[in-house]
Formats: sequence, structure tokens, C-alpha cells
Amino acid sequence: MIRPILRYGERGLHGRAADVTTFDDALQRAIDDMIETMYAAPGIGLAAPQIGVPLRILSIDLSVGRTTGDLIIMINPVFLERDGSQLEEEGCLSAPGFNATVLRPARVVVKGLDREGREQTREGTGLLARAFQHEIDHLDGTVFIDRLRGIKRDLMVRKIHKLKKTGQW
Ligand code: NI
Repeated sequence: MIRPILRYGERGLHGRAADVTTFDDALQRAIDDMIETMYAAPGIGLAAPQIGVPLRILSIDLSVGRTTGDLIIMINPVFLERDGSQLEEEGCLSAPGFNATVLRPARVVVKGLDREGREQTREGTGLLARAFQHEIDHLDGTVFIDRLRGIKRDLMVRKIHKLKKTGQW
């Protein structure tokens, strides 16, 4: 089921998500909804809190469903390694219409569980490293806008407030 994506400023987006402890049907349904919602958006990544599920689950597919085997589902992810840095333009499904350059690691190694609860480790460079950091940020209640500094961030937040006031957010 495609679910509505929460937007910057909405409650569910700004807290720390809880670890997954039960691998039941409800979890599988939530993951299916994440994948469907991510592809429909379309986007290359989604975190469970973005569809109102306060659990530490992320989905990433750099091919947006075009290449079999590209889909990554990672539960309770933790960084084992983070090296280097990259500065590229970034956006978020929870902040449509907004983009900014964000400092991210150039390479990451992430450990977590797959949707059956089996341990998995993934390495990512470039865009994949960026996606892992962006989605794990979501699990900690951080949206890319929160990573910006000073006037850039203020300007974006002010624009969002304005959109909210006129019912466009
Ligand atoms: Ni995002």
C-alpha cells in the first residue's frame, strides 16, 4: 500500500526511531509499504518514520526498481566504518522542492539485519554512501535540512513555514 509521506515539521519525522525486535507479519507489511511508497514517489531511499512507522528500517534502491537486486532493506543499521567526505546536492521526499549541498562520508560500511532478521553488511561509496547516511539520519530524527548551517537553513525553514501557513505543505 502506498502511504502518505510525512513532511518536514510533522511529528513522526523528528524523533529517534526504535529498534526492530519482532519479525512478524506487521513488520513485513510495513516494509512492503515502504518499498511501494518509495518506488511510487519515486525516490532512491526511504526511512520507515517517513511513512509514520517509528522503527529503524531503511530501504534504498539507486535504480528505483529498474535493476533486480539493487533493493536494499536494512533493519537496525549501524555504521561500522565511515571515511572521506563528499559534497553533493541532495533532496528528500519529506521536503519536496528543496535541495541543498550536504557534507556526507564518501564511503560507509553498514551492518544490520535483512527483512528475515539475518545479519548483513553492506559497503557503499558515492551515492550509496550518501543514501545510507541520509536514511540513517532519518532514523535519528534528522532531516538533511537540519544538517545545513546558518542562513541557508533559516531560509529553507522560513519558506516551509510560509508554505504551511498557506496550506501548501
Ligand atoms: Ni529523506
